[in-house]
Amino acid sequence: MLIDSHAHLLDERLRDNIPAIVADFAKNDVEMSVEIGADMDSSRGAVKLADSYKNIYAAVGLHPESAESFSEDDIKEIAMLAKNSKVVAIGEIGLDYHYDYDKTAQKSLLIKQIILADSLNLPVIIHLRDAYLDMENILKEYKKYINNGILFHCYSGSREMIDRFAFLDPYYAFGGAITFKNNNRAEVIKAVKKDRLMLETDCPYLTPVPHRGEINTPNNLKFVAERIALDLGMSYDEIAKITTENTKRFYNIK
Ligand code: NI
Repeated sequence: MLIDSHAHLLDERLRDNIPAIVADFAKNDVEMSVEIGADMDSSRGAVKLADSYKNIYAAVGLHPESAESFSEDDIKEIAMLAKNSKVVAIGEIGLDYHYDYDKTAQKSLLIKQIILADSLNLPVIIHLRDAYLDMENILKEYKKYINNGILFHCYSGSREMIDRFAFLDPYYAFGGAITFKNNNRAEVIKAVKKDRLMLETDCPYLTPVPHRGEINTPNNLKFVAERIALDLGMSYDEIAKITTENTKRFYNIK
């Protein structure tokens, strides 16, 4: 079975249907999902959701969109939320230069949360868009705080950056975008070590082919697994087995 390593079921487009979505997990080959916080509300919500469903885990953290508005009290609350036994990572955190959030503030928020994750012995989930060199520099400078694993979620970078991030031995998750026409990612996916490959939906976003135009849910994860199997010349079952093992190892889920 598959694990959706990155879902936002609490998004307003999905949250009223969570019981029905989770009820359909098994018949869509989904073993569990990880609910990702991006701001204070969704981090608090992720912990509550994980407490309500056996097969949902949580990550808590502040996405770069919070960089200009977060307070030190927010960081303290993230630390408190992270003590819940269903919280398996700090994230999503990162750098996003596609939008206009202040870059200095983004870097500062990212570094604070990398250090926080280390103090809590948790891995970090990285959101990275149009900021590869600054990310590389920060991760080099703060490498001593990355001891529990690092995941680049929805990785859209180059094969070259995979080589340059190799000093971290990171995990990479791929989602529905790899199924889009004119977005052949096979060469990049092949560059990821088999024991570092993970699946995600990032739902409600990035709905895979053949359901584009619909709202995404973890129940579409099999289409991502099928595409990766095709790209790597492996069977669906092999992809399911390795990505599920990798995801449990990364998040330390027994
Ligand atoms: Ni996300």
